[in-house]
Parts: sequence; structure tokens; C-alpha cells
Amino acid sequence: MTAPIISGKQVSEEIRAGLRAEVEALVEQGLTPGLAVILVGEDPASQVYVRNKEKACHDLGYYSEVHRLPASTSQEDLLALVNKLNRQENIHGILVQLPLPKHIDEKSVIDAIAVEKDVDGFHPVNVGNLVIGDDSLLPCTPAGVIELIKRTGIEMSGKHAVVIGRSNIVGKPVSLLLQRENATVTMCHSRTVNMKELTEQADILVVAIGKANFVDASFIKPGAVVIDVGMNRLDNGKLAGDVDFESVKEVSGPITPVPGGVGPMTITMLMNNTLIAAKRLGGLA
Ligand code: GUN
Repeated sequence: MTAPIISGKQVSEEIRAGLRAEVEALVEQGLTPGLAVILVGEDPASQVYVRNKEKACHDLGYYSEVHRLPASTSQEDLLALVNKLNRQENIHGILVQLPLPKHIDEKSVIDAIAVEKDVDGFHPVNVGNLVIGDDSLLPCTPAGVIELIKRTGIEMSGKHAVVIGRSNIVGKPVSLLLQRENATVTMCHSRTVNMKELTEQADILVVAIGKANFVDASFIKPGAVVIDVGMNRLDNGKLAGDVDFESVKEVSGPITPVPGGVGPMTITMLMNNTLIAAKRLGGLA
């Protein structure tokens, strides 16, 4: 039997409708959430992501600033812009699109973003608060994964969740958020021995390893929930997830497609973070 598809596109549209209504009410109270995005250089994928963020701001009624800087921009100039945006009252969220050109130290730039405006959730203080379980701005893709599972009505408490991938952006934070939902979490990564023995036990499998079609049906416990965070560009130009969707969907339970699964949730959670930051900074939270 073929598994039900979890539509990130549909869930994302539902959340965005709620955000649009909330922003409209805030604007009436004199507070327009503002997001500043900084793009350094001309990486084609980054240009697409930044355009989509700008469009989401426009569609949902946020104020938006996009700073497109040449690849030759010095670290000093970039830090000066971040500091200016930290002080700018109409900006509540700051996002520096990654990757940055090689001559710029990414960590110094992330560390310079005001913690309360760090809508990517990458600042060490926000990461630390996530680990402790304190209130923080959550990284967008992991938050999107959890929201997608929740809104699909899937129970996480007491389930065995297996995460493949241990990146700072997805694998590590998603494992912490799954624990927060009372799942029992196993982490797998490129050096894991006998990975299938672990994934075969997963009630929920989250895959973020960055290898096209890495997970096939032989990894899957029948009926398991499968969340594919992968976005791999194939030689033929097509987008592929980390999961071989066609074979896995014959064995799994609810499963996310690529595109149209986790992808649309990321920007939606960014917009949610910007709204949270605006309310906190505006004294309305
Ligand atoms: N580049 C790819 N994904 C991301 C992201 O989530 N945030 C930022 N800032 N840059 C990215």
C-alpha cells in the first residue's frame, strides 16, 4: 500500500494564513515586523532563497530589507552593517545568508547578530538555550520538521526517532527538539556502523545527510513516519531528497516529498520567528 503524503506546502499555507492575520492586527497597533536579509556574493542557490524570503515578507505584510553586497565585501564592512541593523528599530529579524565568501569568518558574523534578532537561531546563546530547553528563537528547518509532524497529528511522545545527519543546522537541533517532544532519539551519521539495524527500529525517521536517495526501502520499519530534509541538485538539474521516495513510500507510513515537504516550512518558520522577535522587541509578547 502506498503511504500518505505529508504536504509541507499545504501545512505551510495554513500557518502563513495565521501569520498574515496576526501581522495585520499588529500593524494596526503600530508594529510592523521587519526582516533584514544580507546576501554577500552571487551564489545562484542563495539568490533564489533570498528572493523567496523577500517574497514571503511581501505576501505576509512584513517590512523587508535586502542588502545585496559584492563578493569582495570585507568582514569589517559586513560586521558594520550587522551592527547597524542590530540598532535599527524597524528591524526585528536579521538573517545573513550562508555560505559566506571564504575570506569572511562565518562565526564572527553570526556571533555579531543581536541574540533577540537572530531569527535563524544560529547564535551560540540561542543554541545554548535550545540545549537547556529554555525559550529561544529556534532554527527554522528543525522547527519546521517538528511543526510538520505535529500538524499532521503524529504523536512523538514515547516513539523511537532516528535522525540521520549531525549538522549544526539540522541534525543536532532536530534531535534536541524531538527529545523535547518526549521521543527517544538515536543519532546516525556518516561513520555509523550498521545504520540499517538502527533505522529499522525507527517509528520516526528524519533524514538530513545531504546524499541524494541515500535511504531506500530496506532502511524502513513498515509504517514508519519519514521526514526528508534533503535538497540535492542532480546532474539533470532535478531536485532529489535524501530518501528514495518511490521505493520508500511503498513500505513507510506518512512521508514528505521533495520538493513540497520540509522545504516550504523553512521560510514559514523564519517568518514565525520574525513575528515572535517583533512582538518581544515591541513589548507585545
Ligand atoms: N543557507 C542555507 N540554509 C540557510 C539557512 O537556514 N539560513 C541561512 N542564513 N543561510 C542558509
